[in-house]
Amino acid sequence: MQNEQTEELRRYAEEAAAKAASGKELYAAKTDVQAKLKAFMSGMRDLPKEERPAFGKTVNELKEKIEALFAAREEELRQKELEARYAAEQVDVTMPGRKRVQGSLHPVTLVKNQLIDIFAGMGFEIFEGPETETEYYNFTALNTPADHPSRDMQDTFYLGGDLLLRTQTSAGQIRVMQNKKPPIKVLSPGRVFRPDDDATHSPMFHQMEGLVVDKGITLCDLKGMLAEFAAKMFTSDTKVRLRPSYFPFTEPSVEVDLSCFVCGGKGCRLCKGTGWIEVLGSGMVNRRVLENCGVDPDEYTGFAFGMGLERIAMLKYGVNNIKNFYDNDVRFLTQFKD
Ligand code: DAH
Repeated sequence: MQNEQTEELRRYAEEAAAKAASGKELYAAKTDVQAKLKAFMSGMRDLPKEERPAFGKTVNELKEKIEALFAAREEELRQKELEARYAAEQVDVTMPGRKRVQGSLHPVTLVKNQLIDIFAGMGFEIFEGPETETEYYNFTALNTPADHPSRDMQDTFYLGGDLLLRTQTSAGQIRVMQNKKPPIKVLSPGRVFRPDDDATHSPMFHQMEGLVVDKGITLCDLKGMLAEFAAKMFTSDTKVRLRPSYFPFTEPSVEVDLSCFVCGGKGCRLCKGTGWIEVLGSGMVNRRVLENCGVDPDEYTGFAFGMGLERIAMLKYGVNNIKNFYDNDVRFLTQFKD
């Protein structure tokens, strides 16, 4: 009788464990079976004393069997769940990757960074002046009299009152000299604004200004530094030519030509057959500008230069319309890597 019941309970447990399809169901089945086992055990009270030890032994064995049974099933379910998860989370390592398009710097930024590298190597610091300037910094302090043509409404964006959008990074020269005693060696990049608009001019463009002030600075220092710049920016055999010119803030003033890096000076389409390309404006800082900034022109001399970054980029990369730089066409922009 007891054996029959034991066997029945064992089978019941076996079926319940086998039927459970998840850890949760298995737990419920185990609780149910344990309740039944407990009820079965309580039958011991009704047995005669001498039969009790044998019954106790049977029940203990049954209990152990049931526990082992559930432990085995639990392990089996865990394994199955793991396999299902592995299958669901499988990664196909042979699948082709998604290509990421690599961005590139804007050609004007490239040229700016190259210039900074070149001049930082010669000990220049960077100063960035404001884009909104006063007439004083943009013109007056730079020895540009009130009747100078560049002050005309057509040539400057006036903002009202005394304010304007700077027409040249030269305005920064004044700010630098007002705030720092010589020796000065500053490079000043930035946006400038003029109401010009054609294939080689844009109402907004970028310039790079250079200023050196110290005792005994001469035009030779200027030419030497420009030769270094030309060799590094274009080709190592690029020659520098200084041509007399006029800027109110320099005396003497020079226009700087570089030997054509396409034909090497023989004459081609780029240099219009002359062998030379005009690249930037420069000169020795006018003593009146030094005076305006509280620098004694009998003690100190200096040179300054200013160049258009778009112009350098157009020459270097063979771009024939300045508007390409502002159209934001990635097919154009991604062509420049260095
Ligand atoms: N500011 C001038 C321009 O925008 C360029 C220039 C010429 C800058 C001579 C200078 C300089 O510093 O010395 O056309």
